[in-house]
Amino acid sequence: MKASLHNKNILLGVCGGIAAYKSAELLRRLQDTGANVRVVMTSGATKFITPLTFQALSGHPVHTDLLDTEAEAAMGHIELARWADLILIAPATANSIARLASGRADDLLTAIYLASNSKKAVAPAMNHVMWTAETTRENIQKLQKNGTEIFGPASGDQACGETGPGRLLEADKLISSCTQLFDTGELQGIKIMITAGPTYEPIDPVRFIGNRSSGKMGFAIAQAAIEQGAIVSLIAGPVSLNTPEHSKRTDVETALQMHQAVMNNIDGQDIFIATAAVADYRPIKPRSQKIKKTDDEFSISLTPNPDILKEVAALDNPPFTLGFAAETQNVKDYALLKLKNKKLQMIAANQVSHSEDEQDTGFNSEYNALQILWNGGEARLERCRKTQLARQLITLLAKRYHEKTTT
Ligand code: PMT
Repeated sequence: MKASLHNKNILLGVCGGIAAYKSAELLRRLQDTGANVRVVMTSGATKFITPLTFQALSGHPVHTDLLDTEAEAAMGHIELARWADLILIAPATANSIARLASGRADDLLTAIYLASNSKKAVAPAMNHVMWTAETTRENIQKLQKNGTEIFGPASGDQACGETGPGRLLEADKLISSCTQLFDTGELQGIKIMITAGPTYEPIDPVRFIGNRSSGKMGFAIAQAAIEQGAIVSLIAGPVSLNTPEHSKRTDVETALQMHQAVMNNIDGQDIFIATAAVADYRPIKPRSQKIKKTDDEFSISLTPNPDILKEVAALDNPPFTLGFAAETQNVKDYALLKLKNKKLQMIAANQVSHSEDEQDTGFNSEYNALQILWNGGEARLERCRKTQLARQLITLLAKRYHEKTTT
């Protein structure tokens, strides 16, 4: 299973060098991979190629100014920094590299670079003497030390008429280098089953008991696992989300159907991740006809649903299990209880209550924060987009999984 840039948010930074015209082609090629691309230009870049070109190609406004109040109100530099899965600066001039290396934040691109926890890559393009200059070498080393990948440069004829290293890498090479950044293969060939979304428990043909789960967390985890080379089966409750490419998806509606879909296919799975918000109870006897309104009190008798996660963890040869615990109070204590009672390897504790001043997170949000607990350890994953959180979670899970399977 190969990593891809599909659905990755890529912020393309364009700096002021003659190679800036090549970024238009690069933008198109990135879009062809299915990536979502936004463009930020330095003021120097706008002298070589107009923002309008990138706007027309990307279908999005191009960001150029740190102090543009209108742009900041729409998608400001912090939003862009959080949005990006990858910041790719291509071409990066000697001047921009020096500014990034010294931690400057006085234009939009450097501010975003400094404010972002995303993956970062720089594709230098400059005169070969500038590239080999001692100060440029030092600046490049500083960027590498901070985790920035350096793509290129290529050697060959230069715009200045000289020959040597300093040409922007070709789009093909830049794209394959970007793709490799998402292909660390921590779970190469590992089979993972993930439950996601809510369940609907029918009361009558038109009514059900459900919950606010959107499936976004589970689908993001599926995507992150695929990026790491896992073979993913996704058992999804009723959600309206696109199926992550390369996953095998089974749609279910009720807890009983989810239970059956999981138990029928759990054999041979290496890891089981239960993000689904499964109804603990279902109406004993769903009515076959729509219940008519009367003035009388009305009650529904409920019976417990099977605990899918607990059953999987209790199998003779169980997979490595990661459960979720959505709690409104005593989050860590309740999560630890579930870890113990259900005999899990890991649990992700999810605070899902909100006071008015708390930020949007958890159920049906793009964002989440998790406290991951296991026997003898814990880790806190701070609030961020579920897509990014899922990648952090998968890295942690892969580490624990490999530790367990090698002991
Ligand atoms: O879907 P989103 O909108 O993105 O929201 C994500 C989420 C908040 C739903 C998710 O992050 C989360 O916390 N999921 C667990 C929700 C939950 O209801 O947990 P629980 O405490 O009821 O269940 C504990 C664990 O047992 C869960 O892993 C659950 O999947 C599993 N379980 C529970 C009941 C049951 N009958 N079978 C189960 O497998």
